[in-house]
Amino acid sequence: MRFCPFLAIPLLFMLQIGHLSFDSPFVLAPLAGYTDLPFRLLCRKFGAGYCVSEMISCHGLVYQQKNTLRMLASIPEEKPVAYQLFGSDPEAMADAAEIMASFGPDMLDINMGCPVRKVTKSGAGAALMTDPGLAEAILTKIVARVSLPITVKIRSGRDSHSINAPAFAKMIEDNGASAITIHARTWSQGFSGCIDKTIITEVKKAVSIPVIGNGDIHSCQEGRRMIEETGCDGVMIGRGALGNPWVFQDTGRPDEMREIISGARAHLALIEEFLPAERVLGYIKNHLSRYFKGLPGSSVLRQNIFSAPNLAALKQQLEPYCF
Ligand SMILES: Cc1cc2nc3c(=O)[nH]c(=O)nc-3n(C[C@H](O)[C@H](O)[C@H](O)COP(=O)(O)O)c2cc1C
Repeated sequence: MRFCPFLAIPLLFMLQIGHLSFDSPFVLAPLAGYTDLPFRLLCRKFGAGYCVSEMISCHGLVYQQKNTLRMLASIPEEKPVAYQLFGSDPEAMADAAEIMASFGPDMLDINMGCPVRKVTKSGAGAALMTDPGLAEAILTKIVARVSLPITVKIRSGRDSHSINAPAFAKMIEDNGASAITIHARTWSQGFSGCIDKTIITEVKKAVSIPVIGNGDIHSCQEGRRMIEETGCDGVMIGRGALGNPWVFQDTGRPDEMREIISGARAHLALIEEFLPAERVLGYIKNHLSRYFKGLPGSSVLRQNIFSAPNLAALKQQLEPYCF
């Protein structure tokens, strides 16, 4: 626990980025295929300080592709929200950032950490950490064109022999970013192996802008431990929030099936409200079954959810638990 040096009272963990202050240091990570408007709204209602959209292609925005523009859907209740941009062409990234900013987010986040081949093969995502000059060109152009706080999400480096996150973070700070998120794995690790928290400590030491630590956090308690151990200012939670928006609350996921169903139904209601009808069924199946993962006797319920032919049949599966 950190203490105020003068009053010897515990300090509440406060996260502030640029002019924005957040009521929780815990942030919903960008998760492609998951962190759209309904899930972000849900996580905000459950206590996330702010949420980050799925990564959005700069070219999709510049060419005004319908599916890409749809990813910018938002409503005032979810604020503060950050939209995440990916790409590797500085001019296209700056044009896209301007388009994004016109949709009214509170921050823009630049993806410099995605290890997926589809993204890195064009020099975007984690590949930018191997080309700091290009990363710098992208950042300076965006900072010059957009007045919102810009954050950057990075990894530790390419592999364990080329950890460059601290120097890279310093470059990011020097070029006008307002915060850095560090997923403490290397590009070559993908999502496997363990995170190395010492990299978060090193990044925090290298810069004076806020640092958000990320990787393998599944509760507020674990998150607070990360803050205490590394000195980071906030903690980003990704997979730990899937089927578990309670991860943003001290009490964590409830034990009672009735309460879990109530959370799942709140999510279902938001999906029905905000997604086009034709996308609801497949999408909710993906999310819903995660709520029951690992619970005793849940495999039949999960199977029934997956095989439900329509929304009415799916909702019927939940009925027995809604007493
Ligand atoms: C399904 C999935 C999709 C992801 N999509 C993105 C993305 O769009 N942008 C990004 O920066 N990171 C993305 N990530 C990485 C997460 O934001 C996060 O850094 C990573 O999962 C580690 O955090 P966690 O252990 O809390 O999940 C994704 C991860 C997963 C598992």
